[in-house]
Order: sequence, then C-alpha cells, then structure tokens
Amino acid sequence: MSHEDFPTDEPAVVTCGLPYANGDLHIGHLRGYIGADAFSRALESLGQETAYVSGSDMHGTPVAVNAEREGVDPEDFALEWHEQYEETFPQFAVDFDNYGHTHDETNTELTREIVRTLDDEGYVYEKEIQVAYDPQADQYLPDRYVEGTCPYCGAKARGDECDEGCQRHLEPGEVEDPTSAITGNPAEYRERTHKFFAVSEFADYLTEFLDCLEGTSNARNQPRQWIEDGLQDWCITRDMDWGIDYPSDEDGEEDLVLYVWVDAPIEYISSTKQYAERVGADAYDWEDVWRADGEIVHVIGRDIIQHHTIFWPAMLEAAGYNAPRAVAATGFITINGKGLSTSRNRAIWAKEYLDEGFHPDLLRYYLTTTGGLQQDVDFSWDAFQEKVNGELVGTVGNFWYRSLLFSHRNYDGTPETDVSDEVESRIEAAIDEFHGAVNNYSLREVGLAATRLAQFGNEYIQRNEPWKLTDDAPDRAAQVIRDCVQLAKAVGVLLYPIAPGKAQALWEQLGEDGDVADAEVEAALAAPPRTFEEPAELFETLEDDRVAELNDALETRIEEAASGTDAGGTTDGDDGPDAAAAETESDDTTGGESAGMTDTDDLEPLLEDRISFEDFQDLDIRVGRIESAEGIDGADDLARLEVDIGFETRQVVAGIKQLHDLDELPGTRCILLANMEPAELFGVESNGMVLAAGEDADLLTTHDDAALGEKVR
Ligand code: MF3
Ligand code: ZN
Repeated sequence: MSHEDFPTDEPAVVTCGLPYANGDLHIGHLRGYIGADAFSRALESLGQETAYVSGSDMHGTPVAVNAEREGVDPEDFALEWHEQYEETFPQFAVDFDNYGHTHDETNTELTREIVRTLDDEGYVYEKEIQVAYDPQADQYLPDRYVEGTCPYCGAKARGDECDEGCQRHLEPGEVEDPTSAITGNPAEYRERTHKFFAVSEFADYLTEFLDCLEGTSNARNQPRQWIEDGLQDWCITRDMDWGIDYPSDEDGEEDLVLYVWVDAPIEYISSTKQYAERVGADAYDWEDVWRADGEIVHVIGRDIIQHHTIFWPAMLEAAGYNAPRAVAATGFITINGKGLSTSRNRAIWAKEYLDEGFHPDLLRYYLTTTGGLQQDVDFSWDAFQEKVNGELVGTVGNFWYRSLLFSHRNYDGTPETDVSDEVESRIEAAIDEFHGAVNNYSLREVGLAATRLAQFGNEYIQRNEPWKLTDDAPDRAAQVIRDCVQLAKAVGVLLYPIAPGKAQALWEQLGEDGDVADAEVEAALAAPPRTFEEPAELFETLEDDRVAELNDALETRIEEAASGTDAGGTTDGDDGPDAAAAETESDDTTGGESAGMTDTDDLEPLLEDRISFEDFQDLDIRVGRIESAEGIDGADDLARLEVDIGFETRQVVAGIKQLHDLDELPGTRCILLANMEPAELFGVESNGMVLAAGEDADLLTTHDDAALGEKVR
C-alpha cells in the first residue's frame, strides 16, 4: 500500500464483505455492494488500475443453521443462493471483475496454505476449552447454534457475535447463560481441544497499522479501543462438518473445520487471483496487490469492523501478505426510521425493487448520496421520491434534456465554438471535488460533485437565457449552448460511478463512441461530437399515487409479518454485516405489556461510535423562534419557515408540512442547527435545520428564557 493520493502506480483491489449464502438480498446488503462498486468505478475514472471482487460466504453456522432448518445439505443450499446472487448483482449494475465463493478450489487451497503458514510461523497453538453442547440433540453448539447474553454489554447475543448490542466478536464459551438454538434447552459445556491464532502478539503491529489506515474513522477508533482493552487470541476451529477442514494430518483433528471468519476474507485474495488468472498477469497481477504493495480497499458493514481491522490484518501480516490501505465501514439502513428487520419483513428486498421496474441508478444514487458512508441511512419511499424528483429529475435530468434538446434543435448537435473560461474552470473545480471525494472515501461527495455541477448548469442557462439570444446575438447564443453541452457531458462523466446506466445513455445521446466506463474524468473537458440526434428524457418523475401504493404495500407486509399471517416464505436472511442492517430481531412479539415503556425494537439503534467534544463543537446549534411557516407548493411534506436566531432571520425548509398545523407554529421557539450547509429543496433555499425528534417531528424547544441566538451546548 502506498499513501499517495489515488490514482497511484500500483494496482488496486476493492472488495465488499461477502454475503452469507443463506437468504434473499435486501437493501442493507445493496448499500455496501453498490457503494464498493461505485468506489471502484470512481477509482477507474481517475485512471487507477482497479479490480472489484467478492464472492459468496458459504460456510459457518449462518449457512448451516438455515440449511438445517430447511432440511437440505448446506452445500446445495449455499450454492443455490450463490447462483441467485450472481444473477442479482448485475441487475443493480454491481459489476464484479470476479465473484467467486469460499467453497471453491481456489479458496479452499489458499486457505489451507495460509493456515499452514500461520502454523509454521509459530502463531497457532492448541488449547483445551469449554464448548457449548446440547445433550438432547447430541451436538456441539458452535456460534449461532447457541444464544445467550453478551458478557460485555448485556445484550442478547449469538454465540459468536453481539449482533444486537455492542457488535463485538465473542469467543467460544464467552456468551453467558447459553441455550441451544436447536432445542431451546440450556447448553452444557464440554471440554475440547481447539486451535488458536495468537492475535495478541500483534497488538503493536495493529496499532501502527491503524495509524495509517484510511477509510472511515469508525474503522480506526473502535479497534484502537479494543487493543487498549487487551487483545485475546482467536479460536480458529469449530466442531462442525460444514467448512474447510483444518489442514493437518495429525490424528484427532479431522473433525475440526476452520472458523468461517478464517476462510471468508481469504476469498478476497482468491477472487482477485481468479480474476488475474482470467485476464492474465500482464493485465492484472494479483501478487502485485496482495504480496507486494498494491492498494487494498475493503468496504464493509460497521458490524464487522473487528474482523477487518484486527483478525484479518493480523493474519495477513503473519502469513506475509500486504496490509489493507483502507477499511470503509458503512452505517446501517433503517426503514421509515426503524431498524431493518428481515424477520419482520421490514426491509426493501432486492427482487421487490427490481420487480417494481425502477432503474438501478435511482437506488444507487439514493443509497450513496443520502448520508455519509458511516452514517445510518434511512430509506422511505417518500424520501426516495424526493431524491429522485428533486435531484435526478429536477436537477440532473432537466439540465441534460434542456441542454441537449436546445442544442440539437438549433445546431443539430454541439455548436462549433470553444467552451468559455468560466465554464471550463467550473468543470475543473468539479473534477477536483470528485478527486478529493474519492481520496476521502466519500461517495456522497462524488455524487454531489455531479449534481452540483448540474445545478450550476441550470442556473447558467437561466442566467443567460439563450432562447432570447438566438436571433439577435447568434454567436453569444452558440457560446452559451456550447457551454451547456459541455456541462451536460461533464455531469455524465462525474455521475458515472454512481449512475453508470444513465451516464452511458447520456454518452450515447451525445453521439459519443464506446463506453463512458472507459473514459476518465478528464473526458469531462473534451468536446462532444459535432452532431447528435434528438435526445429523450432520462429520468421520470415518481408520482405521488405510486408512492402511496408503495407505502401501503410495505405497511401491509409488515403488519402481516407481525400478525403471522404471512411468513414471507423467505429464509430469514442472515443479516450480517454487510447486511449492515440494523437488525433488531427478537422473536417475541413487540411491546405492549408494560404501558409507557418504549419498545426499543422500534428505535434506531444507538451509535457505537463516539465523537469528540471538538466534533460536537463543530455543530453551531442556536435557539430560534419560528416567525412564519407555509407549505411549499408541489412538495407534499415540506414547509418553508422563517426562523429568527437573534443575529438574523433564516429561511429553512423542514419536512413538517403534514405533521404540524403550520398556522400554529409562528411564535414557537425552536432549536436550529445554524451551520448546516445550505441546500435547495423544490427551488427553495434551506439555510439551517430545525431539530425535531422521531417520525412525527416533535419539535425541540426551550423551557426557560434563553435568548434568541443563544448557543446550545
Ligand atoms: N459473510 C460475512 C457477514 O455477512 C462477511 C464476510 S466478509 C469477509 O457477516 F471478510 F469475511 F469476507
Ligand atoms: Zn455486546
């Protein structure tokens, strides 16, 4: 790994966490896979040699438990899901250079080889430990076969992960009050000999590793804390049949398989290797990446940070492999403000989205630009509609269409004149933003660099009114339109990583040859062909009645799942990490019994990640008073507020039109985030954010006489 900015001279590999081959894909999975796909496309746009690889995670109890529930062989079960994933990803334009699986020969062999090396290097030892056992089922209970209480945070936990609480990895025997997931009986403990990898010896190495690790800050801060608390060695074998056998011929070990978290990340290497073998080492050399100093970028869900910043880099280091350059850990997805739950059917399923006939680029844009990578992102059909209609239809699509149409009608294509200096430097600035965003692992900024440029384009047309110039000042008109065509093309080039399908369609409308995928960012400044055909609109307005139907369908589905009328027929997805789906699953029916108590299942999970006081001070929160409130025409939920904050009166757009009686609001004190970056919603500038709690937007206020403009601290 180097620490030069992208693009570097070394090849890069971008990975996303492997999905367990055990159930339907949903929006929680898609966030990570789309994110990593967009990142790898963005790197290529910068001219970085890049491979994007992943594969299905076939082993472990997440697969075994679900296969057992269906009474099928785990291998057949996992392969079937694997094949489904292979078909699904391309439909979201998630375009892997290689998508393998952990049970194939490449990965089985490489895993054995790496584990043998760990052993040879003296990092593996045997230890007798107590493992959970179900006497009735006459079976050991590894990982998800056992449930209990997390010893660190007290949450209900699975055998190997505190999935509803602190997200820590748990070692065999650690979960308290274990019960068998097969019979529900309390588990017994039996003594067994297992293999351990001496992770604790890598504390110093990992500390240094984290000091130069790029990506999101959560992927550095949490592991630093774990190292400080003291690293434990890691049990790398399990009492199971399904998995990769421990590579040893010695007696008594053949009934041990490797823990799934050993062979799963090794698939990152195996998959890269398969890609390189297909295209040839001249085109892409996997050893340059993994055994020398190529750029390794892992995009993962935030619940598997420990695996990627402690266990995995320790394994790589011990076995003589290169270290990851970046770990970018995404937040979870919530649905209408509540934790995504596959068992409650509160999820947006991949198949469902596709069946609705929506273009993948809409979801890609929504998921990458709605929040920063680390943030939890809420999905609702209303917010989706607002994003699509506002930014994609209203800003990008509108600019593309009006520019190309005007240009086609008046000039039969691109006017023959040069781009103005003003527009050229605006495009250069956008390219710089894009470049900076990629180097900051901020997909949101990648997308917004394009959208802001389109917004500039719209203002540019509006300001110059070329339709008034064509007769009296034809040269000037040609200049303005020439600028707009260049801006349109630049928006397409910059939006390509996020919206590759739409960018390609624009590319073709401009009469460009080949694929926008093969163009680099500099193409944003190159003139489009002289002539092109009449364009068509590339984005379609999402109508209110359609959104109402989608909302109804989602609600009904959740209600049905709650009342048990429809089990959904879906295997309960595993929900892992990349699943990155704030799963708050418990099978007990929700709430009710104790009046007045909050059903925490319905709350967004607390963020694990702490921020510093300095970070908090970056928020300029002020006491204000609403002076006026009126609905915004054409926007169902939005209101325009005038808020007096002592120094000045701010215009703010708030999503409260349906939730409050707007006539009642003037005079109400509110709390305003004053240094929120300005945004434009439905043509109205919003200059601050009024703070409110929960789905009903309960407005925050003060209870005494703090003066307007007083800072909240
Ligand atoms: N399948 C795992 C999960 O969903 C992720 C594996 S990622 C890898 O939690 F690093 F192991 F590859
Ligand atoms: Zn915990």
